[in-house]
Amino acid sequence: MSESQLWDAVDDYFTAHLSPEDDVLDAALRDSEAAGLPHIAVTAPQGKLLQLLAQIQGARTVLEIGTLGGYSTIWLARALPADGRLVTLEYDPRHAEVATRNIARAGLDTLVEVRVGPALESLPQLADENPAPFDLVFIDADKGNNPHYVEWALKLTSAGSLIVLDNVVRGGRVTDADSTASDVQGTRTALELIGRHPRLSGTAVQTVGSKGYDGFALARVLE
Ligand code: SAH
Ligand code: DHB
Ligand code: MG
Repeated sequence: MSESQLWDAVDDYFTAHLSPEDDVLDAALRDSEAAGLPHIAVTAPQGKLLQLLAQIQGARTVLEIGTLGGYSTIWLARALPADGRLVTLEYDPRHAEVATRNIARAGLDTLVEVRVGPALESLPQLADENPAPFDLVFIDADKGNNPHYVEWALKLTSAGSLIVLDNVVRGGRVTDADSTASDVQGTRTALELIGRHPRLSGTAVQTVGSKGYDGFALARVLE
């Protein structure tokens, strides 16, 4: 068995026992695939981790940057109380349309608002509405803008909020200071910003699984 087959098998085993059969989530992935969306949603164990983090936070409000087909959105929204709120930002109207259907089928359309457009336009609009601080922000869109997304997350959260950044390892490319890839540079700048920011306490954790070798960064807003 190759290393990646082994990671797949372990993820399948974890999923079978810890986040088993779920028609709504399965349908969300099936319809995303049928619509030709890329296969880059979080895995089931990662989705469950996001849900647990939101629950540990006691989150009532979640902001997600990067919706795709709404798979991670459903995991996160299920952690919210009936009067909770999740705002998810998506650039591609085709992705947003698939996500909107998936979220409705999950019965979460009263909690979730999908906003279409480049997040760097949606975020100032959202801020202008003076929303209640978001208890959790999941950043999972174009990685080159990660530093901007962390800055916006800081504006839209308050003490005790949690910021989660996906895909901070990307096979180890994150260590390449000379990389010309915008995702690598955006992620490096975001991580270094988290590391030195007086209002943030963060870490990053490497992961393996059916999406290969990658990782998450977590940052708690201090004040
Ligand atoms: N969170 C999803 C995966 C998101 S994939 C999940 O795990 O299920 C990244 C998404 O970010 C894609 O749908 C892509 O269209 C979107 N995206 C890329 N650039 C963006 C931008 N500038 N603003 C908002 N969304 C963007
Ligand atoms: C990509 C984006 C993601 O959010 C992810 O989790 C994996 C891959 C990508 O753009 O390749
Ligand atoms: Mg991701």
